[in-house]
Amino acid sequence: MSNQHIRVQRQRALMSRREFLAASGATALLTALPGFVVQAATEPPPMRHVSLRPGKASAQLVPGKYPTTPVWAYNQSVPGPEIRLTQGDRVRIAVENALDEETTVHWHGLRVPHDMDGVPHLTQVPIGPDKHFVYEFDVPDAGTYWYHPHQRSSEQVGRGLYGPLIIEERDPITVDREVTWVLDDWRLERDARISDNFANRHDMSHNGRIGNTVTINGEIPDSFQVRQGERIRLRLINAANARIFALDFHDHQPQVIALDGQPVTPHEPANRTVVLGPAMRVDLVLDMTGDPDTRFTITDTFYSGLEYELIDVAYGPESLRSNTLDSVIALPANTLPEPVMEGITRHQIRFNGGMMGGGMMGGGNNMMAMMRKGKMWFINGVAASDQVMDPLVTLERDHSYLIEMINDTAWHHPIHLHGHSFRVVSRNSKPTPHQEWQDTVLMAPEEKVEIALVADNPGDWMFHCHILEHQAAGMMGIIRVRT
Ligand code: C2O
Ligand code: CU
Ligand code: CU
Repeated sequence: MSNQHIRVQRQRALMSRREFLAASGATALLTALPGFVVQAATEPPPMRHVSLRPGKASAQLVPGKYPTTPVWAYNQSVPGPEIRLTQGDRVRIAVENALDEETTVHWHGLRVPHDMDGVPHLTQVPIGPDKHFVYEFDVPDAGTYWYHPHQRSSEQVGRGLYGPLIIEERDPITVDREVTWVLDDWRLERDARISDNFANRHDMSHNGRIGNTVTINGEIPDSFQVRQGERIRLRLINAANARIFALDFHDHQPQVIALDGQPVTPHEPANRTVVLGPAMRVDLVLDMTGDPDTRFTITDTFYSGLEYELIDVAYGPESLRSNTLDSVIALPANTLPEPVMEGITRHQIRFNGGMMGGGMMGGGNNMMAMMRKGKMWFINGVAASDQVMDPLVTLERDHSYLIEMINDTAWHHPIHLHGHSFRVVSRNSKPTPHQEWQDTVLMAPEEKVEIALVADNPGDWMFHCHILEHQAAGMMGIIRVRT
């Protein structure tokens, strides 16, 4: 499996005249303050340059005698190029749209300023065909993220527009090898073409566009070569429209070290399976504790009765070391503000809709009328029809909030908030063992989940289900953080 590292040129940021004036003004002010020692100006963060070109391409998703698959891809490759930056960098990403339709790029999970978030109409004018747009922002947190369009996402992401976005720690943990696996699930016809029935009624009202072909980094995986004693940091990204993965590593014991990019106390995953809803990321430390010349299979067990073998892990003949590496695997904390739980302001958000036992669930008259217009899912009784709307809740900047989310449906939903990460504090009224930070939380049918956050990033932020067909069918809203 190839990891294309994008070529990023490191170069000093050229200060604009305005920035220069601001900087010199600040220095003058500091000099004027008595008792203030003026430090040598700190160097601006290095500016990194990336260019992305979404357009038509073809990819050999299915090996052997099958033809290539016509896809939509960034820089002609599925996944798009791995963008690798270091925490604290500033990045400028030039996007040139070679598609026949409008697009945007969203930096999923990264806490960027509102106008850089890539949501059409809400945060920017969409990028038309042959037009370009330059995104530029600082990278606040280390971790595993990804990028994808936010325009007609079900089809644009479903045809292959997505790529990994890796932010390295300034002081990373010691491992022998680092590997990124971008998981995707495609619905292919017999000739390896992508089935055209995007956002159809059935997918929208059930569990989304579940496909028939799972790829890792754009290929149906065959085997993954390892050595005895090797310690691997495995970054998993679920880029599928709808498929939820539950990966079982057989007799190996992966340690979860980060969720959605954010460090978590290293722990074995619950039920020894690594669960990733759409858009979620998990960083694992995987010690290769098997014997040389043996193999084992990683299986995906999420949908009962539909378990399948994802990939074989094959040990080579040689051994790197006979015991496991004795190094620290806990990641350094990121820069998230900690919510103050005492006297915290509470809000409640309820999710309804979808099919159950042949009928619509929990619908009132309003919902039945919306359903006739192709909307199947509701947040607090409202189905969104575009990405600009009245907020579900309005939060005061820098205040702490607890949001109780209630899944009144018979389906799973990975619920995602833009611009912030939040702590998942309880599930069904029981505190979570790791109080993990996430930007996308998978809610089980009928589950109640409480999240807590500091609303420190001003703007109107998308809050939606990341099963892209649910999002298209109305499961989307806005959380406003007042400036
Ligand atoms: Cu991954 Cu609203 O996005
Ligand atoms: Cu996002
Ligand atoms: Cu959903």
